[in-house]
Amino acid sequence: MLNFSFANPTKIHFGEQQIALIKNEIPADAKVLVTYGGGSIKSNGVYDQVVDALSEHTWFEFPGIEPNPSYQTCMKAVALVKEKQIDYILAVGGGSVADGSKFIAAAANYDGEPWDILSKGGEIKSAIALGVVLTLPATGSESNGNSVVSNLDTHEKLAFASPLVLPKFAVLDPAVTFSLPNRQVANGIVDAFVHTMEQYLTYDVGAKLQDRFAEGILMTLIEEGPKAFSEPDNYQVRANIMWSATMALNGLIGAGVPQDWATHMIGHEMTAMYGLDHAQTLAIVLPRMMAEQKETKRGKILQYAERVLGLDISDEDAAIEQAITATEAFFHSVNMPTRLSDYQLGEEVADKIVEQLERHGMTAIGERGQVTLDKSRAILLASV
Ligand code: NZQ
Ligand code: ZN
Repeated sequence: MLNFSFANPTKIHFGEQQIALIKNEIPADAKVLVTYGGGSIKSNGVYDQVVDALSEHTWFEFPGIEPNPSYQTCMKAVALVKEKQIDYILAVGGGSVADGSKFIAAAANYDGEPWDILSKGGEIKSAIALGVVLTLPATGSESNGNSVVSNLDTHEKLAFASPLVLPKFAVLDPAVTFSLPNRQVANGIVDAFVHTMEQYLTYDVGAKLQDRFAEGILMTLIEEGPKAFSEPDNYQVRANIMWSATMALNGLIGAGVPQDWATHMIGHEMTAMYGLDHAQTLAIVLPRMMAEQKETKRGKILQYAERVLGLDISDEDAAIEQAITATEAFFHSVNMPTRLSDYQLGEEVADKIVEQLERHGMTAIGERGQVTLDKSRAILLASV
């Protein structure tokens, strides 16, 4: 096992009607900014629950944080934070609202040009306190310190991470996910699955517990994911998916193990360039990444094949092929396409994305830096 330090201080309130608890989580004298997206929270009752919970607080609102939150929109919120002297941000929405709010929280206290936080690794010395009411289980953003923000002018989608933007608390009510469109349900399941794979499908370092946690998440998503479509009103299904997504990226399964993230790095460039949803890009790249990396990842793919998929691995090469096919079939089982051609895209994507990877220094990605630009190109060409 590798050395690690682990702390996840985000307090989770999980279950139905838990949104009311935000009243006790935010200091009574705080000036709160409620941030949200395009309005889904107004039609599914979440907004009303938040308004009720904040009835004794002083609060303002900032709507309009878009999917793949933009730097441009976030900077408008930063101006509002400064004008109203906000000292607590309550993000109500999916990963985009949470991520955008983290950037707002850091940018409001940043000396200098806040885009530098993303493009130059500008150091964050403080941030405004943040809480999250999660409406889309997917990213784990509700209890991690990561944020991904896009610049609409430059077509760049860049990430930063800081413990200072870790949410103080997060409310996870699975019932609020009933209103998700199928496309977003699928996105969430696939994103959580791929987060787990990025931290599991590397090489063995003897981290048995982390492996089994990861396998538990993968098996739960494979079991429950399709039921979100066949039994859309089943609360337990939603609850299991929601908790899996949080646990997939709150630091626990990634502590003490090598991490990959090459699929994500390629995927972010695809979203920035072609506007595909985050998880749509992952479902295209991961099966081809597994195929391209099957020798480097051999031991772990076989472990995944046997323990997660229940495959007979006596013929190792056959088992690896079957594991890749089964992974793609799982994505299809949650109605997620897995090819560039499903989005009317073709071979032209390869050069374009490789150019962007190079521009962002992503020339040797993966757990051993083994995914060179040539390999990224091959993966994309195989994904048509
Ligand atoms: O904007 P509204 O109207 O709220 O609608 C949203 C949005 O259109 C809708 N939605 C959310 N909850 C809903 C709902 N509609 C009905 N009922 C509900 N309960 O869903 C749409 C997509 O929302 P979004 O927040 O964009 O989705 P997601 O949670 O998948 O977040 C994706 C973003 O997170 C980043 C991605 O790159 C992408 O920008 N990621 C963040 C990570 C992190 N912070 O750790 C890691 C991930 O790998 C990822 O990169
Ligand atoms: Zn992701």
